[in-house]
Amino acid sequence: MKIVVIQGPNLNMLGVREQHIYGGMKLEQIHAQMKEVATQNGVEIEFFQSNLEGELVDKIQECYGEAHGIIINPAAYTHTSIAIRDAIAAVGIPTIEVHISNIYRREEFRQKSMIAPVCASSIVGFGPFGYHLAMIGILQILSEIRAAQEAQMRAQTAQEA
Ligand code: DQA
Repeated sequence: MKIVVIQGPNLNMLGVREQHIYGGMKLEQIHAQMKEVATQNGVEIEFFQSNLEGELVDKIQECYGEAHGIIINPAAYTHTSIAIRDAIAAVGIPTIEVHISNIYRREEFRQKSMIAPVCASSIVGFGPFGYHLAMIGILQILSEIRAAQEAQMRAQTAQEA
């Protein structure tokens, strides 16, 4: 099982940018914690950050046939990008959207997510801890998918016998 974590523009500046909103943790520290959880659960994990919309779309497309789950914080593109939304819909991989801040308590232009309707779930406002919650969430989704596949295989085998 493989999870891909996709981070949008300016998230490479975490730990520096607007610490009163995003906290003091650096992206590498967040990723190190996620990697630990992945290792504990025997799951492969890959991290990707870009400031460019097209690169984020390319990365989502690359997940097709490769990844079983996506955790994404599209950052500012959350509010504008039909292209990222379409890419998530196109690959059909269970995706969790994360926002460090509570976008629904902020400026009006941040209160709309173009991405949320194509995601399995959204986690907002927990600070960097939201990424940990997303890991737990995606692991749960993956184990439910695996259990459903196994049940289907068992039913097929019983039918053939
Ligand atoms: C963000 C919220 C966005 O509105 C903002 O543009 C970001 C970060 C968050 O994680 O809270 O860059 O996605």
